[in-house]
Amino acid sequence: MKSNFKSTVAQDIKRIHFVLTYAIDNSIKVCQKINNESNLNKEYKQGFINYLNSLVNLFHSHHTVEDDKIFPYFKESKFSMPYEDLAKQHEELIPLLDKLEDAIKGINNDFDNQLKVNNLRESLENIQSLWAEHYILEEQYLNDENVARLINLEQQAQLCLEFGKYAGQHINPDYLVIPFILFNLPADEREVMAEVFPPVITQELIPNQWKEQWISMSPFFLINN
Ligand SMILES: [Fe+2]
Ligand SMILES: [Fe+2]
Repeated sequence: MKSNFKSTVAQDIKRIHFVLTYAIDNSIKVCQKINNESNLNKEYKQGFINYLNSLVNLFHSHHTVEDDKIFPYFKESKFSMPYEDLAKQHEELIPLLDKLEDAIKGINNDFDNQLKVNNLRESLENIQSLWAEHYILEEQYLNDENVARLINLEQQAQLCLEFGKYAGQHINPDYLVIPFILFNLPADEREVMAEVFPPVITQELIPNQWKEQWISMSPFFLINN
């Protein structure tokens, strides 16, 4: 473990929440833009499809690590949190994410079809409201102040790596979703988030071997490359 690990459990969760929130809002804006433009190139279309698929996968992987690891850990430690309400919201988001996936397939070869783009925008908006309710509730409980009462920073660093590793097993494909996470964060936050990934990913694969794959998403990132 790195001795100068900068993150905490609550901050790592908050960063993923930021990425999901930003990417939903951003994708809704892109839908509005698409309907006003007729000359979108192939790379831009592919990039947006990759961006949306990465959003869906990050939702599922984030909820999987919460359901399987984070919530059980805190529940066992008698940490106060509305576990049932949060689990119920995760379940309620599943059909909405399925609809989003269908809507993504719908526009895949049919970007010029306004009905399909509107359908995509609506499915994102449906997720947006339930998601906001969910992550705000989660952060009311899972914040630095509350978690610090239970575990010290050294233990938290260990847990960040453990939770990050488990989330990583559900990230697919890694060459799109990991850059999606990092480049939808402000620069200082990205640097801290990068700590949970093996250095070979952040220093070698993302800038080199993976770049050809993720670069299409670059127009949609918070940080442009
Ligand atoms: Fe959650
Ligand atoms: Fe969460």
